[in-house]
Amino acid sequence: MAASTKGKMQPVCNTCRKYLFHFASEHFEFKLAELKAIASLTKSEFKINEEEYDEKNPFLVVELPSEDHVHKLLSRSVLLRSVYELWAEGQTTEELNNNIRQLPSQFISPYLQADQSFGIRVESFNKKIPQNIKTEKIKALPFDVLDFQGKVDLNNAMNTFHLFEYYGYECSKPPEYPFHLYFGRWIAGGQRDRIQDLHLQKRHFIGNTSMDAGLSLIMSNMARVTNNSLVLDPFVGTGSLLVAAAHHGGYVMGTELDFLLLHGQGKPSRYKQKKRASDESIRRNLEQYGTGSRYIDAIVGDSSKHDMWRPETYFDAIITDPPYGIREPAKKIGAASDEYIISEEVKDIHIPQKVQYQLSDIFRDLLNFAAKYLRLGGRLVFWFPVIRSDYLESNIPRHPSFQLIANCQQPLNSKVARRLITMEKIQHFQESSSDASVDQDHYEDKSFRQRYFHQGKEFPKNETKS
Ligand SMILES: C[S@@+](CC[C@H](N)C(=O)[O-])C[C@H]1O[C@@H](n2cnc3c(N)ncnc32)[C@H](O)[C@@H]1O
Repeated sequence: MAASTKGKMQPVCNTCRKYLFHFASEHFEFKLAELKAIASLTKSEFKINEEEYDEKNPFLVVELPSEDHVHKLLSRSVLLRSVYELWAEGQTTEELNNNIRQLPSQFISPYLQADQSFGIRVESFNKKIPQNIKTEKIKALPFDVLDFQGKVDLNNAMNTFHLFEYYGYECSKPPEYPFHLYFGRWIAGGQRDRIQDLHLQKRHFIGNTSMDAGLSLIMSNMARVTNNSLVLDPFVGTGSLLVAAAHHGGYVMGTELDFLLLHGQGKPSRYKQKKRASDESIRRNLEQYGTGSRYIDAIVGDSSKHDMWRPETYFDAIITDPPYGIREPAKKIGAASDEYIISEEVKDIHIPQKVQYQLSDIFRDLLNFAAKYLRLGGRLVFWFPVIRSDYLESNIPRHPSFQLIANCQQPLNSKVARRLITMEKIQHFQESSSDASVDQDHYEDKSFRQRYFHQGKEFPKNETKS
């Protein structure tokens, strides 16, 4: 059932105004987490009524000190469609119109002047409304107060007003009347267009597990990547996460175990493509988007081994999608037997053996690595696979150096999901006492992988094959 967004909020400040945030209807579990991350990055303040927060409702009334703060949030969010200055809301047309009538004249009069062109639109959520009915709804607005003197301009008005009707999210049976109505002035849109700009379908180098552009941008937001951040993806694959981080101004680098993939020599993943082009690489991807200068390097390396790094707290952010061993190999360098000895004469040309990389070890190594190499206040953002019916919050790995900031689920089907975990480094790494704790029993063995694989058979295809 839909919930009303009405309710009393403590204002962020005395002069705060109410704004209507209109979110995209996807990844709804992530929207507040993304907003909070951007707010802490851009030092903008906002306040919502947490008690009445309904994550499935794409509309959210937010209090902010000024429109500047709105623009800061919009400058990064990929989940926000648009923000409106909220003029009035109500559960019925009558209540909405009464509230419009209460608006102080000094608040609305600048928009009513003859030199201000205007347009009014009606948008309904979860119910199709024919144009003639929409026109009726516009006519029902209280034009005795909304006494616009300017010209009507439906395409390029100086001020565009929106009447929103919210019919809940139960698609099968929308109610006859909306649960809630909002009326407001459009301020600006978010960064949804960047999803198309960086879309995998048009990207030069992609693989089977390339992360789609929208989620990559969300991860980079959660990690608070900004101009000149130093960002690492230790399981870099085709570098989708680096594309997003470089888009946000980060200097990016990665490590990857698969030599062929990293060198663009593996099997192509594009439908009907027989051979990879000779210049398929992460660098080429960044150049495609004009961020080539942000690319440091990607090296062939095993993320289970940390001794190739000097012990410094280099990174501002670590963002990654570790291998679950289902659509990609999860291996590490190692020998199946203890008696494996490499003779001196073959040492230089020897290709090391690889062994299965246990899921629990992947996450333990990742947290231990991040605890050592992230700067204080830096963020670690990674995906974590779960079987939905078994999931407990205690399954999420922990580390004394990290505070959990967000834990958002992306369902992959009715049985399996992955969770985007965001952690912030709050304490220096101490060799003696610090080790990640991982729910070994849950993730250690083959059986998790097998169950995850069988239950996850209907994985959504990535964007590459659509
Ligand atoms: C889920 S994919 C990451 C995909 C990546 N985000 C992209 O956009 O292409 C995980 C990657 O980790 C790599 N990998 C597996 N074991 C590894 C290890 N021990 N060290 C480094 N990379 C590893 C796999 O080859 C795979 O490319």
